Amino acid sequence: MVSSIVSFQVGDREVEVLVAPMTTLQTVLRYQLGYTAVKEGCRQGGCGSCAVLVDGEPVLSCLLPVEDVAGRRVTTLEALAEPDALHPIQQAFIDHLAFQCGYCTPGMVMVSKALLDRDPDPSRAEILDALAGNVCRCTGYAPIAEAVADAARVLASRGAQSR
Ligand code: FES
Ligand code: FES
Repeated sequence: MVSSIVSFQVGDREVEVLVAPMTTLQTVLRYQLGYTAVKEGCRQGGCGSCAVLVDGEPVLSCLLPVEDVAGRRVTTLEALAEPDALHPIQQAFIDHLAFQCGYCTPGMVMVSKALLDRDPDPSRAEILDALAGNVCRCTGYAPIAEAVADAARVLASRGAQSR
């Protein structure tokens, strides 16, 4: 089988990787490029811990051949925090104790970001629906939903301040 070179963007960085056919985006991000916030859970599309954004849309990186992101922009948790502060979603997860081991958290945060980017004021049901593919073995989903709702309020108040 012939390896190929794939070019894409991760955060603000242009990357180029040499990969064997059908190498997943998860493998490249986590093991070739060092984006360790991309977790390796089930590797079968069942847990959501590997979720990243591709052109702003959440994807399960364990199911996506890296060739499919050629020329596209990938966002991992590493790109979310600001230089001197966590992203409001990250901060809200801390404030609401919305994790214990934290293994599911990067995927939860990335899917929540995609949700709040397209719907700044989701209902509790919409939050839980968006996170239906993200499994947490530790925390229960109430504090996670609270954190996302709280982050939505913070982001909305920031938007109001900038108007
Ligand atoms: S590792 Fe990708 S969904 Fe579980
Ligand atoms: S905090 Fe441990 S799996 Fe979610």
